[in-house]
Amino acid sequence: MNSDIKTILLTREQLAKRVKELAQKISEDYRNKDCVLVSVLKGSFIFYADLVREIDFHTTINFLRVSSYGSGATSSAKITFKYPLDSKVEGKHVLVIEDIIDSGNTYVFLKKYFKDQGALSVSMCALLDKPERREVDISAEYVGFEIPNEFVVGYGLDYDEKYRNLPYIGVLKPEIYKK
Ligand code: PRP
Repeated sequence: MNSDIKTILLTREQLAKRVKELAQKISEDYRNKDCVLVSVLKGSFIFYADLVREIDFHTTINFLRVSSYGSGATSSAKITFKYPLDSKVEGKHVLVIEDIIDSGNTYVFLKKYFKDQGALSVSMCALLDKPERREVDISAEYVGFEIPNEFVVGYGLDYDEKYRNLPYIGVLKPEIYKK
């Protein structure tokens, strides 16, 4: 598996340090608010697990999963729930936890959905941000790392459902996905 990686972009240590910093900031900002932290599966499962263990306030654990139709989906209308959130967000502050913000379409979709459900606010914490890929005018309120437009895997992110269990984030060798 490691031999499929061209370069390591973010090491375990860099990730752990940044996750701690993000958790500290989130703890300061949300400590006295009724807040729902939502993991968007599958990509965010490791980031979420690490982040919540550094969060210093009582929180519930919540998951959802969305699916986008077709590659190159350009509209949030093409996103639907594969696994909806099972807790109520009405009157609460929602913080969406993502492994990556790319086109921004998922965030647009979730923001509207939670607002429609009566959330007081909807923000996002994305470990990675690929601003070059943005298709809509939206940005995550908390970002771990801005990264170039390269094919990254590991720490939850996949190619063809593989590599999610790598403990670091690496750039995949082009010959792997161009096969
Ligand atoms: C990724 C990521 C986000 C979404 C971001 O999920 O986890 O949910 O894409 O992209 P966007 O900003 O262009 O909407 P993906 O569809 O790859 O599913 P996965 O998390 O199950 O791997």
